[in-house]
Amino acid sequence: MVARLKDKIALVTGGSQGIGRDIALTFAGEGADLVIDYRSERDLPMAEEVKAGIEKLGRRCFLVQADLSSLSEIDQLIKTTVADTGRIDILVNNAGLEKRASFWDITESDFDLVFNVDLKGLFFTTQAFVREAMKQKYPAKIINISSVHEELPFPHFTAYCVSKGGVKMMTRNLAIELAPYGITINSIAPGAIETPINKALLNDKAKLESLLANIPLARLGQPKDVSGVAVFLASSDSDYMTGTTVFVDGGLLWNYQEQ
Ligand SMILES: NC(=O)c1ccc[n+]([C@@H]2O[C@H](COP(=O)([O-])OP(=O)(O)OC[C@H]3O[C@@H](n4cnc5c(N)ncnc54)[C@H](O)[C@@H]3O)[C@@H](O)[C@H]2O)c1
Repeated sequence: MVARLKDKIALVTGGSQGIGRDIALTFAGEGADLVIDYRSERDLPMAEEVKAGIEKLGRRCFLVQADLSSLSEIDQLIKTTVADTGRIDILVNNAGLEKRASFWDITESDFDLVFNVDLKGLFFTTQAFVREAMKQKYPAKIINISSVHEELPFPHFTAYCVSKGGVKMMTRNLAIELAPYGITINSIAPGAIETPINKALLNDKAKLESLLANIPLARLGQPKDVSGVAVFLASSDSDYMTGTTVFVDGGLLWNYQEQ
């Protein structure tokens, strides 16, 4: 079988665990070299484990620490990546977090925590990446890991929904603005995927059962359900796609039945 990302260089933000980890390893299996951004020293052992997995597949992996809520760290991330690899063909904006609170209880610091990573951080990581791609004049692909909640309400997670809704419109806008430069941008909107972000849900049997009852395919998604689509969006198979969102949600978004 032909490797679909042979010798491409991909940067995956928040790639030390969860969906980002799986995308990084899957990309390496398809022939790509990786740069993994990890948030802090605490995440380094997990990032090193991902790097070892990538090297076992015969590909190169560079680790760069950057907290994406800081514009100067984003800038440094892109500069270090280009210094290490010479170029970046694919950016996967995966890093993200959520905070539960009723609307009337959301504090400014919790709003900032979510917004500064999920939307502002993603926005400026994309900007730094695009500036580099334009300077060096190579075609490039951007993949945002958005959420089913760019579309679907999620009460008590309004800051998260606002951020992912922003990612949706950014994807639509940049498709037009970046097309003349050979840069495409698409989003993946996962439903409920079994990763550490859902730890509380996974430990709450009643909530989990009620969620599963809303998913037509009647199971949680696995990270590999997302990484298969990410490979497609990173490969030349998707060259004529830009500005769109692919939902990977077991049918959750459009679940409607009359009893
Ligand atoms: N798991 C799901 O059900 C689900 C559903 C929809 C969307 N998503 C999205 O998928 C993406 C990955 O989430 P996951 O499920 O793998 O969760 P996760 O918590 O396992 O991974 C999130 C990653 O983001 C990184 N991150 C958080 N803040 C950061 C910061 N300031 N700087 C750099 N990195 C930071 C974390 O270190 C971690 O590596 C997120 O954007 C999330 O919103 C997840």
